[in-house]
Amino acid sequence: MTSDAAPERAAATLPDGRELTVRLAVPADAPAILDMVHRAFLARPVAGERPDALKDDVRSIEARLDNGLGYLTLIDDRPVGVVMVARQRGALRLGRVCVLPEHRRLGVASFTVDVVLEDLAVRGEERVQLLARQEFPSLQAWWRRHGFEAQGVEGNCVVMARLLPVAVEVPDADAMRGLGLRLAPLLRAGDLIIASGDLGSGKTTLAQGVGAGLGVAGPVISPTFVLARVHPSRDERPALVHADAYRLGGAAELDDLGLDDSVAASVTFVEWGAGVAEALASDRLEIDIRRGIDPDDETRWVFLTPIGARWSHDALATAAKGDA
Ligand SMILES: Nc1ncnc2c1ncn2[C@@H]1O[C@H](COP(=O)(O)OP(=O)(O)O)[C@@H](O)[C@H]1O
Ligand SMILES: [Mg+2]
Repeated sequence: MTSDAAPERAAATLPDGRELTVRLAVPADAPAILDMVHRAFLARPVAGERPDALKDDVRSIEARLDNGLGYLTLIDDRPVGVVMVARQRGALRLGRVCVLPEHRRLGVASFTVDVVLEDLAVRGEERVQLLARQEFPSLQAWWRRHGFEAQGVEGNCVVMARLLPVAVEVPDADAMRGLGLRLAPLLRAGDLIIASGDLGSGKTTLAQGVGAGLGVAGPVISPTFVLARVHPSRDERPALVHADAYRLGGAAELDDLGLDDSVAASVTFVEWGAGVAEALASDRLEIDIRRGIDPDDETRWVFLTPIGARWSHDALATAAKGDA
């Protein structure tokens, strides 16, 4: 595992306006990491054995950073959480995942884990594991909500694992359309794609490629003002229903669009649909588009996360990566 592909700092704004960032840890962070790990793990309910994390010292943290990766989460530049990554028995494992007790319930852990999973995907990793103590079912439930599933038992822990998102580097707008073109042959009637990413990240550009691949009539343009547009295919492929959920108040307003009726016969592509459009189908393909902090850099990273039995992760990875 190399750490020279250091991630750019990933940032988000908390509801109270403070800035949340995640960056790679460096050896000089070891004392701060140790302090967080001890405070966070001491605050956990005591069950069974003392967690190994309480036996850490600065040297053991330095050794972990040396042999693997560490990610540090900061609020306004103060460290509040950590995730360590190490290769153990041939598998990549997350460990020492913690957030300081006074910063819980803000979504810090979810944000951090999402950034870590995306960064590991960018590094070419495919699968990740972790150990969750058996005595804490709510901890296991939290990891299940983040895509992990139990796959065995090790000592007093459940081994949980998940596939990482498929990461695709997209240098320019044509390459984004190319990605849509390559995904289109995999798509069939009833499929739901939920695309997320900031304004101008390339969601509509991707939809254009998907539309071209499905052979649809009419230009695929931003549906912001009409909320949803139906593009019938000229090639006996399903129609593309292209919707924009940005202005919708929530799932109830989405119902008003009547997409339910068209979903079964079409490929439905919803921009800004996260948290709103999931109910349209049982399975879905989530697509997250990220751009770096340098505004002059046009490169996007696209993360594809298949949800449900409909999708084959391998087929998606093969199609998405193409010859690139
Ligand atoms: N790598 C890239 N991928 C996608 N679009 C890009 C890329 N580089 C530059 N662009 C430009 O960024 C803009 C993306 O706009 P659009 O697809 O409408 O975004 P969104 O629908 O996410 O708001 C387009 O003007 C496109 O030409
Ligand atoms: Mg758009």
